[in-house]
Amino acid sequence: MAASIVKRVSRVKKLNVSHISARYKLLTGFRHFSTSKQWNKALVLGVYENESTDSIDFTGTARKFDEKADGKISQLLLTVKKPLKCGKTRTLHAVDPEFSSVLVTCIGKRGEGYDELETVDKGRESIRAAVAKAVLQLRELGENEIEVDSCGDTEASAEGCHLALFSYDDLKAEKSRKPAVRISCATRYSQDKNNMEKEWRKGAILAEGQNLSRRLMEMPANLLTPTKFAEIIKEQLADKCEVLVRDKDWAESMKMGSFLSVARGSVEPPVFLEIEYKGRQSDSPLALVGKGVTFDTGGISIKPSQGMDAMRGDMGGAACVAGSLLSVSKLQLPVHVKAFIPLCENMPSGSATKPGDVVTAMNGKTIQVDNTDAEGRLILADALCYSEQFNPSLILDMATLTGAIDVALGAGAAGVFTNSDDMWNKLQKASVRSGDRVWRMPLFNHYTKKITECQLADLNNIGGSRSGGACTAAAFLKEFVNNKNWLHLDIAGVMTNSGDVAYLGKGMSGRPTRTVIEFINLMSKETKN
Ligand code: BES
Ligand code: ZN
Ligand code: ZN
Repeated sequence: MAASIVKRVSRVKKLNVSHISARYKLLTGFRHFSTSKQWNKALVLGVYENESTDSIDFTGTARKFDEKADGKISQLLLTVKKPLKCGKTRTLHAVDPEFSSVLVTCIGKRGEGYDELETVDKGRESIRAAVAKAVLQLRELGENEIEVDSCGDTEASAEGCHLALFSYDDLKAEKSRKPAVRISCATRYSQDKNNMEKEWRKGAILAEGQNLSRRLMEMPANLLTPTKFAEIIKEQLADKCEVLVRDKDWAESMKMGSFLSVARGSVEPPVFLEIEYKGRQSDSPLALVGKGVTFDTGGISIKPSQGMDAMRGDMGGAACVAGSLLSVSKLQLPVHVKAFIPLCENMPSGSATKPGDVVTAMNGKTIQVDNTDAEGRLILADALCYSEQFNPSLILDMATLTGAIDVALGAGAAGVFTNSDDMWNKLQKASVRSGDRVWRMPLFNHYTKKITECQLADLNNIGGSRSGGACTAAAFLKEFVNNKNWLHLDIAGVMTNSGDVAYLGKGMSGRPTRTVIEFINLMSKETKN
């Protein structure tokens, strides 16, 4: 049997991959290689990095498969001198009757875990990246049903492949779209299949939340208006959450003058979304707030036109809130969450706010709007005030707020401003699991002074100079929060992925959705939420 497979392999090896399907029909002598339908089935196996040239350090699942294939996989891997390095792959064909391709992917050194300086779990990150690369390569080969090794961390493996296979090509012709691929976990040799399936499902749901955020962020602003955003959220969440869609009149009645001052330049009506997920009874929900500027032109303080298309992602905070809620509700976490999403466009027009205008926020504070491009803090001011009315145990806001946070941290981490060491520790812990990092930034009085020195009003919406722009923006928000557990995440630097995160394609990133879901998961273990 082993000899016949070797013979077959040597024949297939000579074939051009694109011709394999056609040539396969000629190879009728192998009873185990059954219908042509199964030809598109592939398997991803993990190996650890290993210097040895005469042994392969397989994952548990991979070892079992190799045994089943009479050692064929290790034999073939050892035919080349150079051992596999982390992130590298080898694709084998016709080594198993069930799979047309078996892709071996290297998941790094055995036993790798938390790296203190990197503040990340390297083992999990390597698994995500390795399986991501594997499934993308197999999709390129036309495989459409892929079984994936859990690689010792089922959840990370599921996250990696579900995130990698995401693409936003709804607006392209059918022939230019990425083909659909079914992925599942290779559970057949597991001691505890049920648990493995459960972990796989959790990873897939975490990725699904982030993928919803990515889809919303990527959608063009002519299609994703505030009204459309609300419709999609209703579709996605209404069966698990209560979704209230508030209009401009409601915002006026709530005296949200700061939010409305941004919306007034656009013909698109603003929307204020209020979403509730009640996974448990409690009087102190966890409050999420997300910046939902569906397009930011800068308003009268108009932005340069180059790269302005990226401002369709300026509702990234809102998108990450929605994505987090989708996952939290699908995972049925025992937690009470209330989300607040102010949605509008920031446009220049005859009715737009002008530099020097003074507006009044819901808490009565007056704001001199010296730069209409600093609009995120204006819409968040009212949303934060409103969220305080629900006695939240914590308030976490997310916003693509400043270019300055991108200058400070780039895509390495989301900037976190918080008045609570406890919240910081929990969020950081969550980010170590998710691999989507956070970095703490200051909320000094130093920055508050910059925005309270104001000629006409209580506050100025800009800090006078460009220095410390992310910190003055956070200091501005602080004026609208009394809660002792407040976290503000400036996510402008992580809004897009241009290759930094190996398992996310290029484009809108949906970061840090998974970190926030993990954080909510941690919080759900505390009784009061
Ligand atoms: N939406 C932008 C921030 C942004 C920049 C998001 C790059 C994503 C990528 C925000 O509304 C803005 O324009 N901020 C200004 C503030 C300034 C006028 C004080 C900025 O960062 O330049
Ligand atoms: Zn702006
Ligand atoms: Zn903006």
